[in-house]
Amino acid sequence: MLEDKINKIKSELDVINIKTYEDLELFKLNYLTKKSELSLLFNFIKEVSPELRKEIGFKINNLKNIAESIFETNKLLFEVNQTFSLNDSTLPSNGFNNGSKHPLSIIQNQIIEIFQKLGFSLSDGPEIEDDWHNFSALNFPENHPARDMQDTFFISEEHALRTHTSSVQVRIMESEKPPLRYIMPGRVYRNEAVSARANCFFHQVEGIYIDKNVSFADLKLVLFEFTKQMFNKDVKLRFRPSYFPFTEPSAEMDITCFICSGSGCNICKHSGWVEIMGCGMIDPSVLENNNIDSNKYSGYAFGMGIERIAMLKYQINDLRLFFDNDLRMLKQFS
Ligand code: PHE
Repeated sequence: MLEDKINKIKSELDVINIKTYEDLELFKLNYLTKKSELSLLFNFIKEVSPELRKEIGFKINNLKNIAESIFETNKLLFEVNQTFSLNDSTLPSNGFNNGSKHPLSIIQNQIIEIFQKLGFSLSDGPEIEDDWHNFSALNFPENHPARDMQDTFFISEEHALRTHTSSVQVRIMESEKPPLRYIMPGRVYRNEAVSARANCFFHQVEGIYIDKNVSFADLKLVLFEFTKQMFNKDVKLRFRPSYFPFTEPSAEMDITCFICSGSGCNICKHSGWVEIMGCGMIDPSVLENNNIDSNKYSGYAFGMGIERIAMLKYQINDLRLFFDNDLRMLKQFS
């Protein structure tokens, strides 16, 4: 009986596998504490016949020694590992989790790439702008509602957070001579109540081309090329007359809804068309404001919202999702 118990514990010790610190603690509890099965074996020695007592005592002692050395070796291993994992810079790292690009960056990069292929250079300007670059140079009349505190975040009498990337048009015109062909991505700010469709900041990509004999047909061609590459090759364009202080004529550009191909769905509110950007021929007085001879040069400009295009392409129905930094949303773009 006692012999069986000894053999049972011995075979357990033969295959013992200590992986964690908890395993080690459990091992101590099972084999080394006073109430452990192994320690209790000593109580039975007195019941063994005198001629066998020495041999059995020896076996149990041996078992205890084995258990103790298993415990000590593993304890030492844990201690060594712990110091090494803290100090040894040659050990392999735990590995990195790859992040993913933000959907707005993905769309912005696609837009930039397409226009660069069409011959546009990249530029940008400051997010804090003065009245001249954001409004006056772009023909905004003194009493235009956009200049109102309600729409614009003023940070001083003269300075505001830019309300559109069109301010960068002015910066380019004043610092370089035509021909000018640029796209200008960036963040813009408007004093709007945050909702599913509006935010106090968002992103735009502006474009200009100023040269001799630039016409509305050139604008149409370049936007047609862009739309085909950005959405799909069968997309159709529609230009609706519109108004911006700095372009004349001005238009809003719609494309056939790429979800339903124009037959009508929720995304296009069953009209078959979705609005993509504002555009037009740069008003001659804007050229003159920036010392560009409007008798010699003409140009076009366009501006689109990156969020709007991302919402359409990825069918995201709440603008706030772009800015919450919720990993469940962002991970879908890896
Ligand atoms: N700046 C305009 C806006 O924010 C867009 C635009 C850009 C329109 C260039 C025409 C030309 O709505």
